[in-house]
Order: sequence, then structure tokens, then C-alpha cells
Amino acid sequence: MLNVIILGYGNIGVNITNALHTCDTVTVNQIVNRNTINPNYTIDSIPTTTNLSEIQEADVYIIAVPDDAIEDFSALLPFNDKLVVHTSGSVSMQTLDGKNKKGVFYPLQTFTKNKLADFTNIPICIEAEDSTDLNTLQTLAGAISNSVTVISSEKRKTVHLAAVFVNNFVNHLYTISEAIMQEQNLDFDLLKPLIAETAEKIQHLAPGDVQTGPAKRNDLKTIENHLHLLKDSPYKKVYEHMTEAIKKHYL
Ligand SMILES: NC(=O)c1ccc[n+]([C@@H]2O[C@H](COP(=O)([O-])OP(=O)(O)OC[C@H]3O[C@@H](n4cnc5c(N)ncnc54)[C@H](OP(=O)(O)O)[C@@H]3O)[C@@H](O)[C@H]2O)c1
Repeated sequence: MLNVIILGYGNIGVNITNALHTCDTVTVNQIVNRNTINPNYTIDSIPTTTNLSEIQEADVYIIAVPDDAIEDFSALLPFNDKLVVHTSGSVSMQTLDGKNKKGVFYPLQTFTKNKLADFTNIPICIEAEDSTDLNTLQTLAGAISNSVTVISSEKRKTVHLAAVFVNNFVNHLYTISEAIMQEQNLDFDLLKPLIAETAEKIQHLAPGDVQTGPAKRNDLKTIENHLHLLKDSPYKKVYEHMTEAIKKHYL
């Protein structure tokens, strides 16, 4: 049985805690958070504290605070020589304070605390300084996911960069698309089958092989019409940049 303590109970803290809590081979001993946790998110059997001096013993300490806070927070931990990991895609393992053994436990998915994720198929990217700790993380990640990958801090940064394109940027394009529809009192739901099909296609085919649309076809009149519709819209520049990027890639 692996004992784990969660430090930081935001979007990922809530999701990792719930996933680990429901598996037989891991016990979440405690949740530590800066401020008192909203009771809607607590789990009855897991004690919580806001006081770092009350942290209990565990095999793995998972820091789930914002990227910029990881370094200082890890230095505040009142113990030494324990395995302390962070959950960030972009922060180097070496950012963690040297008084403890360092590691990374990065689930490659988007999480919000009000929607609990099923971790079964979520890739978990792990890293540690030695093979014993790596084995521990392999066991921990394997308890909740079928997809565990050992990956260096350097490579993880590249994965995170690519993830920003497929998740954060694509999601912002959804937001733009919704605003464009709403301006004309059109229902964004109309576009959902298209969104689903686009995501489904690239499960089996290379994204570059399934690109369609006016930029790919170089349909200049259609592009002009779209730019006219966007007129003074703040989204016009996004349309122009994306169109240029697609043209450059294919023409
Ligand atoms: N969300 C995702 O989709 C996702 C996916 C993969 C990896 N990650 C990584 O997971 C980590 C946490 O992200 P998140 O989305 O869960 O963030 P979040 O929802 O903003 O939660 C941050 C948590 O850290 C605490 N916190 C904030 N600033 C702190 C500080 N200076 N010192 C101590 N605690 C502090 C907050 O406490 P309070 O409640 O008291 O404010 C909160 O519990 C980041 O490294 C992120 O890169 C996130």
C-alpha cells in the first residue's frame, strides 16, 4: 500500500485525490491546502489541514500548486529525504527544493475540480532522480492509469508546448466560434457534431492529411467574404494568422 499526501487542492489536486482515493493500492493520508477547503470538495475519510507543521508521514508527497509557486512551496516543507513530486507539464524537476528527493507526476489532461476525470486512459508522465523513486511513481501512476510514460523534464516541456496548441488554443477557438454564433443569435450546439468529428478523425489519421477549408483549398473569394464578415472584429487577426499558417503549410 502506498501512502500519499496531496499538497494543493485545486483543479488537479481534487482530481488526483479522487482517482487515488478510489483505488485499492493507494491511501491518501491527508490533503494540505493554503486556505480552508470548500466542504463540497472534501472527502469524509481524508483529513485536511492548512497548517504545514501538521503534515503526516507518507511515501509520496504530491505538490499540486501553480507552476510559479512550486519552488518556494517545496522549500517550505518541514521534512527531508522524502519523495516530493510536482504535477506540472512545464516546470523542471530540478525546480523542487533539494532537501527532499525529487520527482514529477504529470497527468497529460485538462482538469477542473467540478468535473472528476476517469484516469484510466490519461497518460501520466513521470520522472525521478533514481530508479527506486521511479519504481514508486510507476506503481502509483499504474494504480490509476494504463498509460504511464517515463519522460525527462526537457521532453516534458515539449509535450506541454504541444498540449497548449491542441487544448488551450483549440478551446479558445471554440470560445471565439461561440461568440461569433451568439452575435447572430445562432446556437453553438449546431457546431458540436463538427467538433466531435474533427477530434475523432485524428484518432486514426494524421492531422495534416485531413485538413479541409478555404485556406487549404486557397479559395480566396471565400476567405475575403469571411474577412468582410469579421470587419472590425477582434477575431479578424486570428483568422488572418490561421489562414496564413495553413496556406504556408500546404501551398
Ligand atoms: N488544471 C489542469 O488541467 C492541469 C493539468 C496538468 C497539470 N497541471 C498542473 O497542476 C498544478 C496545479 O494546477 P491547478 O490547475 O490545479 O491549479 P489551481 O486550480 O489554481 O489550484 C492551485 C492550488 O494551489 C494552491 N496555491 C495557489 N498558490 C499557492 C501558493 N503560492 N502557495 C501554496 N499554495 C498555493 C491553491 O490554494 P487555495 O485554494 O488556497 O487558493 C490551490 O489549492 C500546476 O503545476 C499545473 O501546471 C494542471
